Amino acid sequence: MLILGIDTSCDETSAALVEDGTTILANIVSSQGIHLDYGGVVPELAARAHLTLLLPAVDAALQKARLRLTDIEGVAVTHGPGLIGSLLIGVSAAKAMAYVLRRPLVGVNHIEGHLFAGFLADPALEPPFVALIVSGGHTQLVHVRDRGAYDVIGRTRDDAAGEAFDKAAKMLGVGYPGGPIIDQLSETGDPAYVAFPRAYLDRASAEFSFSGLKNAVRVYLAGRSPDEVARDLPHIAASFQAAVVDVLVEKTINAARALGLSRVLLTGGVACNRRLRGQMTARAAEDGIGVTCPPPILCTDNGAMIAAAGYFHLSRGEAASLTLTASPRARL
Ligand code: KG4
Ligand code: ZN
Repeated sequence: MLILGIDTSCDETSAALVEDGTTILANIVSSQGIHLDYGGVVPELAARAHLTLLLPAVDAALQKARLRLTDIEGVAVTHGPGLIGSLLIGVSAAKAMAYVLRRPLVGVNHIEGHLFAGFLADPALEPPFVALIVSGGHTQLVHVRDRGAYDVIGRTRDDAAGEAFDKAAKMLGVGYPGGPIIDQLSETGDPAYVAFPRAYLDRASAEFSFSGLKNAVRVYLAGRSPDEVARDLPHIAASFQAAVVDVLVEKTINAARALGLSRVLLTGGVACNRRLRGQMTARAAEDGIGVTCPPPILCTDNGAMIAAAGYFHLSRGEAASLTLTASPRARL
């Protein structure tokens, strides 16, 4: 069954074609450069950019897969969580296409989409496992009991991990989006240069908090001259990155051990982070835990993961009606 997957939840406009929830025929992701000048996503501009970019992305996907619109057998779209204006563009377009093509429509939870990036990347991945979903909008630890059966065991109380990267990069004046820039800068930095705080909260808890770290970066920078900061940039970036990664890794491994699970899925935009991937894999190996981490294109927002999750729900008879609406605060 050929599914068109659409994601317009934040600042990437994506359309993908996936066969039977497993084979990616095309996965077009148009990043919206417009936000670069503002140092963050401007919701109003994001919605307008989706309006411009979405149908060309669908067309590009069809061309890449050498298929026609009428070949599509189902339409899956992110209906939440995300920015309301952005979600509405994707949901409206998906509904119109499903309606005209007379094909089933399915609304997909964006966070569940990030989980399905794992199934897409590794067909051998089977629940149960623990998933760490880390992106610009979410930081969650999830016990994936089965496809469609999830227990959220912890989430962030304040900033998401990606948001922390983006805000730290802004304070360092190095640009947007912060994650990839800090990842790159850190390459030549000493992660032990600044002892930034690790918010473990209660050690047994799977909850996260990154606002204290953000504050610590602010205080540290306020006490340094611009020259010192410029000279030490890679060290400061690497120290910040290490503080985020240590907490993410420790809490994920703790959760897997507490649940007696031997597999971890690392997904979402921050899962592109090289230190996080490396440290998680190394730390997990000590406990005999395997780590699945999709390639970067499936970790950041993309339509393929939405098509994969949509296929699963359609195959369970969970099509949406044409009254489907956007749910900006939807939870997993
Ligand atoms: O999943 P995603 O594309 O969008 C959301 O659902 O939020 O994640 C985007 C986030 C941004 O905050 C970005 O800075 C972060 O992922 N990110 C990274 C890296 N690549 C992207 N964070 C750390 N290291 C990276 N290499
Ligand atoms: Zn996302």
